Amino acid sequence: MDPEDAGEMAAELHGQTVGGWGLFQIAAGAGLTAYVVWAGILMPGFRKVPLRLQVPYVPASAKQVENVMSLLKGRSGKMVDLGSGDGRIVLEAYNQGLSPAVGYELNPWLLRLSSYCAWKAGLYGKVSFHREDLWKVNLSDCKNVTVFLAPSVMLPLESKLLMELPDEARVVTGRFPLPTWTPSSVAGEGVNQAWAYDIRTVRQTQKDKTEGSPV
Ligand SMILES: C[S@@+](CC[C@H](N)C(=O)[O-])C[C@H]1O[C@@H](n2cnc3c(N)ncnc32)[C@H](O)[C@@H]1O
Repeated sequence: MDPEDAGEMAAELHGQTVGGWGLFQIAAGAGLTAYVVWAGILMPGFRKVPLRLQVPYVPASAKQVENVMSLLKGRSGKMVDLGSGDGRIVLEAYNQGLSPAVGYELNPWLLRLSSYCAWKAGLYGKVSFHREDLWKVNLSDCKNVTVFLAPSVMLPLESKLLMELPDEARVVTGRFPLPTWTPSSVAGEGVNQAWAYDIRTVRQTQKDKTEGSPV
């Protein structure tokens, strides 16, 4: 193309405004890119999980992990982390004497990362990570459960935990408390806060409330 023609064309284009169709194409492109990043990198494996229960990955801070683990001090038996991310809580729990230490996670990238972190920490084969939907896992043999999810799922989670966990179980949540339960103890503050709930106490409190309430 003649440089003069190119110059004229550029001048013409410069004078043009983006029409409705152009805007639509830009919006559709941006939407598609956002969807690909969301579905392919951040939330792969979540297609079967209802939208209202989907929780993205945010790793617990070192202080949050410390607070969660302080509320599990002196305990023994099986622990599970519901939505285990890169496995940092599971690894700490094993190091603190909890075994078996198990993580449930749907994101395959994070599961690979968990295996790598376990190997790097010399714990490969000692802890385990499973690609399973936490809402479908049976928790009836768990003595220690850790949770760092989102406020929107904490109420339905209360029902699942109460229905499945044994009396001796302790649930420790990081960053977000369980909305209607009273914690047995609390550690830390702000975004690093953690809450511990003893299932026997939670059941007793609910029973007392029901018996005390007028019919
Ligand atoms: C806020 S992150 C916490 C990660 C990790 N527990 C930590 O403390 O660093 C929540 C994790 O739960 C996972 N998750 C969300 N919904 C899940 C589900 N239904 N089943 C299994 N994992 C899920 C996400 O992929 C994400 O890795």
